[in-house]
Amino acid sequence: MDAHRRPLTDRTLPLLTEGYAWLPDRMRDSADRVVRTRLLGRPALAVRGPDAVRFFYDEAHVHRHGAVPAPVLDTLFGQGAVHTLDGDAHRARKELFLPLLDPDRVAGLTEHVTAAWDEAVHDWSGRDRVVLFDEAGVVLTRGVCRWAGLPGEAVDAEPLARDLIAMVDGFASPGPRHLRARRARSRQEARTARLIEDVRSGAVTAPDGSVLERVARHRDAPDRPLDARTAAVELLNVLRPTVAVSWFVAFSAHALHRWPAHRERLRAGDDAFATAFAHEVRRFYPFAPFLGGRVVTDLTWRGASVPAGGILLLDVYGQNHDEDLWGDPYTFRPERFLDRPPGRDELIPQGGADPATGHRCPGERITVGLLEALAVRLARLEYTVPVQDLRIPLRRIPTRPRSGFAVTGVRAP
Ligand code: HEM
Repeated sequence: MDAHRRPLTDRTLPLLTEGYAWLPDRMRDSADRVVRTRLLGRPALAVRGPDAVRFFYDEAHVHRHGAVPAPVLDTLFGQGAVHTLDGDAHRARKELFLPLLDPDRVAGLTEHVTAAWDEAVHDWSGRDRVVLFDEAGVVLTRGVCRWAGLPGEAVDAEPLARDLIAMVDGFASPGPRHLRARRARSRQEARTARLIEDVRSGAVTAPDGSVLERVARHRDAPDRPLDARTAAVELLNVLRPTVAVSWFVAFSAHALHRWPAHRERLRAGDDAFATAFAHEVRRFYPFAPFLGGRVVTDLTWRGASVPAGGILLLDVYGQNHDEDLWGDPYTFRPERFLDRPPGRDELIPQGGADPATGHRCPGERITVGLLEALAVRLARLEYTVPVQDLRIPLRRIPTRPRSGFAVTGVRAP
């Protein structure tokens, strides 16, 4: 039977049990790279490919308001976050984040994070065993908080790192991980909202032009300041995803362990290779499985349709591993990005289309900048990789090497 015409049963449960493979497995049957399914009780259409990216990001097709399930808002993004806005409201709020694309800001954050990394390495060299995923989280928390202008006394990096990581780790799974994520979010939203109020009252001074100052003063319109809780949500929407780069740090360590030849080029300070390595880590390793939006008008894509009120899904993990786009998608090969930088709508680990007009991640340059710098530092670090469970389970969203990538015998370069 034609894959488009099979009777549709709700696939929410298979999604939770199959993880990253859920959509790509179904796409395999479709030459047109389109799948009709049902999700969260609604008809859904999943699409893939650079043209499909443009189709998905067309605001006449898809809105985000009402698209993100409450458990994801209550853990990952926060209620009222920029991710849930459409049209003028989205553009007004996105103004807060677009300066993050500015190369000077990216360089500033990278300096803070690499300084925190270099300090941490001395501490690691005195320890028996270091779990890179956990330690990278603390390093990134220290760096991003200093860069964002948070006063030192407002930041206790280790518990804050644990909470920011928990919000990401628990958004897609029922059970204890999800509960941890909810508790972490309510704790940090409350603390951050108090900090915003202190900045507004003058009790705390935020450096001019810092992220803290800009969020505290932001207005969606001249008569619409953000309430302190929403401002806290958006400040956390800078801190949390920056700290989430620790997933990519653990993946980078995994890649250098499995394919050690890349270490030499990174060590040698080959900048173009470091950029290519950062892109390949973001392409190859699984992070965001797919993106979804609420369909606002009946849509048809390559002969398959979904009615208004349904869901349109963009198969992010599948596209980053699509043979037609990458040739050898399951080979880790940074060189693929040396001859040619990725097309705007080809490599989409952080969304597609234009970040200035759509929902694409405004932190993509930050992510690449941090990964370039940290991959070089990892490659120059001397350590031993003891026996451990380095499997990366595709059923777990988000996934990572099971052990978090432990190392022993760290020696600073
Ligand atoms: C949006 C991934 C790092 C801030 C997104 C989206 C993805 C993503 C998939 C959704 C795109 C869409 O809905 O169309 C990632 C990954 C990161 C990362 C995998 C690295 C671990 C960052 C950083 C920042 C950031 C470093 C800020 C410093 C945001 C914001 C949005 C967003 C504010 C919402 C944009 C909007 O709705 O307009 N990110 N991101 N992200 N990201 Fe990132």
